[in-house]
Amino acid sequence: MSVLSGKKILLGISGGIAAYKTAHLVRLFIKAGAQVQVVMSPASLHFVTPLTLATLSKNPVYSTFYNEEDENGVWNNHVELGLWADLMIIAPATANTLSKMANGNCDNLLIATYLSAKCPVYFAPAMDLDMYKHPSTIDSFQKLSSFGNIIIPAENGELASGLTGEGRMAEPSTIVSFIESDVLGKLPLKGKKIMVTAGPTYEAIDPVRFIGNHSSGKMGFDIALQASKMGAEVTLISGPTHFQLENSQINLVKVQSAKEMYDACHRYYKDMDVVIAAAAVADYRPKNVALQKIKKTETTLSITLEKTEDILASLGEQKQNQFLIGFALETENEIENAKLKIQKKNLDLIVLNSLNDKGAGFGQPTNKVTFIDRDFTVEPMDLKSKEAVAFDIINKIIKHYEA
Ligand code: CTP
Repeated sequence: MSVLSGKKILLGISGGIAAYKTAHLVRLFIKAGAQVQVVMSPASLHFVTPLTLATLSKNPVYSTFYNEEDENGVWNNHVELGLWADLMIIAPATANTLSKMANGNCDNLLIATYLSAKCPVYFAPAMDLDMYKHPSTIDSFQKLSSFGNIIIPAENGELASGLTGEGRMAEPSTIVSFIESDVLGKLPLKGKKIMVTAGPTYEAIDPVRFIGNHSSGKMGFDIALQASKMGAEVTLISGPTHFQLENSQINLVKVQSAKEMYDACHRYYKDMDVVIAAAAVADYRPKNVALQKIKKTETTLSITLEKTEDILASLGEQKQNQFLIGFALETENEIENAKLKIQKKNLDLIVLNSLNDKGAGFGQPTNKVTFIDRDFTVEPMDLKSKEAVAFDIINKIIKHYEA
């Protein structure tokens, strides 16, 4: 999955012949899973039609502050467009547009949108070789870079003028890979290895029956996805669940029982920077597993249970530099019990779920958690979607590494 998946990309097109390539660029962004909106300078309308770009981006294309033919006079809001975007790319960026943007000469919607954008802005310049080397163009590049903008270097090759040299706009596929690796390199958890446990475990009674629980695995899967989005290398160790993983970057290890989860966790543990134990591991399992299906010959049936391995406690015992996060599901004396778990399992952070809170716990799309850290700082959170809770947990990790 591309790092651009789900990103909102604003494409600004200025008036150069390379504008014809932006149709392909929009296609590539859409293929990467991004949402695209296009703003065009008046001059670019000579080179590519708004209809083509609107069709490919599945969004209206803007080139003026308002539509003169529309008697309702709808205002195309550059501030809104600028704020909507996660990233903006000006391609092709002509010498004229580069210069106007560098100096804040705001005489069209594209430049007003650029000046309103708070997101990272990339430029893919395109012009003739002498224009590309001209001191005023170099000055624009320097100025724009000093504002934090990113220049995607033009390529060497045949130019529309017939001359050969530097100035060709980078190919659309190069632009996409450039932005992908730039975004990836800046992700806050880049280089971190994170292991997440998820779902229930099934403890066999006989070949057809087991002891399980209602955990859906959603919380752990959401955490794994969020960690991956932030650039971490994620290993997700999951008990049985119906969730499908759409993110092929995540290493999914499927297990059934607590013992299998224990073995898998210890296989990966020593290389990990962070572990988040979101699995609802069975605390007990049948002491003896019947080899054949148990027949209903008796009126009552007793199964002797034995304790399973406490996976998180065993990871806490062997902890070196790992940042260890556990969950606690409690029904009474919640805060006190969670604090005891921090000590008992040698955790850095615990995510407390109280079943007394409406909307928290198993089988719900929402969760209401309280964070408690090693120093026993208690931070209650609002009721949120599990995705938003996953976001909060990952933010805690980011803050830990920033500190
Ligand atoms: N956990 C684990 N292995 C177990 C049991 C729990 O790794 N055998 C982990 C869970 O993934 C969770 C944390 O320990 O992160 C706490 O789980 P919880 O069920 O709240 O607590 P328990 O340790 O099982 O204690 P109790 O059931 O007595 O409250």
